Amino acid sequence: MSDYQTSFPQDFLWGCAIAAHQCEGAWNEGGKGVSTADIARLGGIGKVRQLDDKVDPDVRYPSHTGIDFYHRWPQDIEMLAHLGIKCLRLSIDWTRIYPTGMESKPNAEGLRYYHALIDTLLAHKIEPIITISHFEIPLVLAQSIGAWKNRAMIDYYLRYCKTLFNEFHGKVTRWLTFNEINHNENTTEAAMASAYRVSGIRYDQEYNIPQIAAQSSYYMMLATAEAVSLAHAIDPQNQVGCVLALHPSYAFDCQPETALKSLQCLENDLYIADTLCHGKFPDSKRRQLAKRGIQLDTKLEDDAKFQAGTLDFIAFNYYSSTVCMLDESQYPQGNHFKGGKNPRLPETEWGWQIDPTGLRYALNLMDRRYQLPILISENGIGMEEQLSGSELLDDAPRIAYLKAHLQALKQALTEDQVHCIGYCLWSCFDLISATTGEMRKRYGLIYVDQNDDGSGTLQRSYKKSAAWYAQVILENGELL
Ligand code: BG6
Repeated sequence: MSDYQTSFPQDFLWGCAIAAHQCEGAWNEGGKGVSTADIARLGGIGKVRQLDDKVDPDVRYPSHTGIDFYHRWPQDIEMLAHLGIKCLRLSIDWTRIYPTGMESKPNAEGLRYYHALIDTLLAHKIEPIITISHFEIPLVLAQSIGAWKNRAMIDYYLRYCKTLFNEFHGKVTRWLTFNEINHNENTTEAAMASAYRVSGIRYDQEYNIPQIAAQSSYYMMLATAEAVSLAHAIDPQNQVGCVLALHPSYAFDCQPETALKSLQCLENDLYIADTLCHGKFPDSKRRQLAKRGIQLDTKLEDDAKFQAGTLDFIAFNYYSSTVCMLDESQYPQGNHFKGGKNPRLPETEWGWQIDPTGLRYALNLMDRRYQLPILISENGIGMEEQLSGSELLDDAPRIAYLKAHLQALKQALTEDQVHCIGYCLWSCFDLISATTGEMRKRYGLIYVDQNDDGSGTLQRSYKKSAAWYAQVILENGELL
């Protein structure tokens, strides 16, 4: 056998990804508490995202309905099994396990639900990869202690982690501590509601955002490091990663100042991954924060925790690249990603620029910088689609998008020799969009008959991309 990669590894994790609040629905069933996602009424494209303080009975919140996965998962998993996927990345909703986050005992009904789900995945030889917190924080923790603004949050989070590591011992070995941990700081105004769900901090009400954002990131990093050590102590087989949102920011022109700014953006985006992979909060970051008048609450013993709890693998979500400009007033308003438009790239109906090479760029960057196995934890395209009669939905643009990104991945594996262990396509099902709350922004290989006004039968049907992806998996990417 050669000691270099000539194709996808035999045990490559071909998979899909979902998140609880975007698919489960049943927000008040099974003893579930209210989460930060449950009060986010996302207004759709171009509209103001709004956060309520409590559930308003007159509002149709996106997370309340999801796609009814909570009741339909047995059939849904059957459908996935037919595609031959090797893994499913899914999140556990914290509020199904600890409804307020503060109980001393977990909610047995919530545990039963996830046991049944995970057992069924395993029976189909689909590995569950669990995201511990994917934009789902108990609302009570956000309102009573300010969520990740408060060091006390680490203990609540670790209690929840301990429950999961003990309960699913022997069933789950790959864990992700947070989804898009870096989203919290590097967010745009358009993505404030997402940031709230990541960190439980209402940036619309905070006056000192940089201080609070940096502090909450620090606590989330520390929680990650402690979770890694805890997972290893409970089962040395456990492998723990953390998900980054990665969108490479290219210099818009060849002015040296733009190149420098683009480098600085990148460094700023990666300091969290540096801390988690290298086991040390960077001194340069500490000094930069101090220069801006930001003093973090740190303790001497934190350093040892960072050192002991480095990640086993790195995960990132990739949808798009952006460009870095000296004049930020040229950045489009309401853009989800901070940055300008790249005139050389096409874009989706939602303005997300399509850049398969950006995936290869990101893989190279992460591989060389951290030298850890990489999981692509999300990648896919949101499109408006309509089912017509009983015909199979022809989603050719999705196939083209996926094919181009998988080809870029293959080049990264074979030409650049990066170490990538898996690819989780977002998503197997059409589900609720995280940034807009819309159903019409469809990502699935499987169509779900549900519309934004609540109409629809919720019936599932494969699109053409489903058969295409099943074939890619069957051939282990050979023909890409
Ligand atoms: C990722 C999130 O950032 O982007 C997912 O982890 C989300 O939860 C995905 O759904 C796509 O974003 P959107 O807003 O189009 O659903």
